[in-house]
Amino acid sequence: MGVLSAQTEQALKKNREFIFKEKDFRFIVKLVGEYTGIVLSDSKREMVYSRLTRRIRELGVKDFSSYCNLLRDGDPNELINFTNALTTNLTSFFREPHHFEYLAKSVLPVLEESKSHRRLRIWSAGCSSGEEPYTIAMTIREYFPETSGWDIKIIATDLDSNMVTKAEAGIYVDDRVTGIDKRRLKRWFVKGIGQNAGKVRIKPELQDIIAFRQLNLLNDWPMREAMDVIFCRNVVIYFNKETQKKLFSRYSNLLAAHGHLFIGHSESLNRVSDDFELIGKTIYKKTSL
Ligand SMILES: C[S@@+](CC[C@H](N)C(=O)[O-])C[C@H]1O[C@@H](n2cnc3c(N)ncnc32)[C@H](O)[C@@H]1O
Repeated sequence: MGVLSAQTEQALKKNREFIFKEKDFRFIVKLVGEYTGIVLSDSKREMVYSRLTRRIRELGVKDFSSYCNLLRDGDPNELINFTNALTTNLTSFFREPHHFEYLAKSVLPVLEESKSHRRLRIWSAGCSSGEEPYTIAMTIREYFPETSGWDIKIIATDLDSNMVTKAEAGIYVDDRVTGIDKRRLKRWFVKGIGQNAGKVRIKPELQDIIAFRQLNLLNDWPMREAMDVIFCRNVVIYFNKETQKKLFSRYSNLLAAHGHLFIGHSESLNRVSDDFELIGKTIYKKTSL
C-alpha cells in the first residue's frame, strides 16, 4: 500500500472531496472581506468549504488551492460566483413585522403631511430574494394607492446577482407566503396554475414601483435623489465596525432631513454612528443639525 501525503491524509480524515488548506481559507477570508465587507470568522471554515465545493466541482479544478489561484488571477466572472456563494440570503415576507406597522402608522402619515411634493423614495439595501422590498411595496401601496397620485419608487439592491434575478422575477413557492393573511395574498399575489401550481407571483403593480439592481454597498452608489427611508436589515451584522461606520455615514448623507433608517433585530448603531436617534425597536431617525 502506498504512503498517503500529509495533505491527502488530512482531507480523508475530514472526509473531504477536495483538499482545503489553511492558507486557502485565509486567502478566501481576506478576499471576501476586502471585496464585500463580510467578515468570516474561523467558525465559518466548514461553511466556506461546503459552499465553494460546488463551484470547484462545476469548474472541474483540482482543489481549493487551484480555485484560489483562479481568483488570484482576477477572473471577474468567478469573483461574482464566489461572492454569490458566500452571501447569506435568509429573508422572509413581513420579517420583523413591527417595522412595517411603524412605516404605515407613523412614517407615511408624517410624510403625507409634511412633504411639499408628492414623492417618496425608499431603498431596500441588501434586499436578498425580494421579500423585503415587496413587503415595503405592499405597505406603501395600501397607504398610497395608485389613485393617490404619489410618485413612489423603491430601489432594491443586493450584492448577490442571483438574488437580484430571483427578486426581480417575483415568483415564490407557496411555502414562502403561508404567514401572509388571505386578504393581502388575494390583493398582491397571483396563484400559479398548471405548470406553476404551488407557486405565487407578485402582481405587476407592485413590481412597477421597484427598481432592482445588483450593487455592492462598499462601492459607489448610483442614487442621486435623497431617500426618505432606508431599510438595511440583517446585512451589517456580517461587517466589522469600521465598515459599518463608513456605511452609516453614507446612509446619513443620502437620507433626507429626518429620514428613517430600519436595521436588523440584532444590529445597533451604538458606537457606530451619532447621526441617528433611536425612536423605536431598531428604528432610527436622522438627527437634524
Ligand atoms: C440575511 S440577507 C438580509 C435580507 C433582508 N434585508 C432581510 O432582512 O430579510 C443579507 C443580504 O445582504 C447582502 N449583502 C452582503 N454583503 C453585501 C454588500 N457588500 N453589498 C450589498 N449587499 C450585501 C447579501 O447578499 C444578502 O442577500
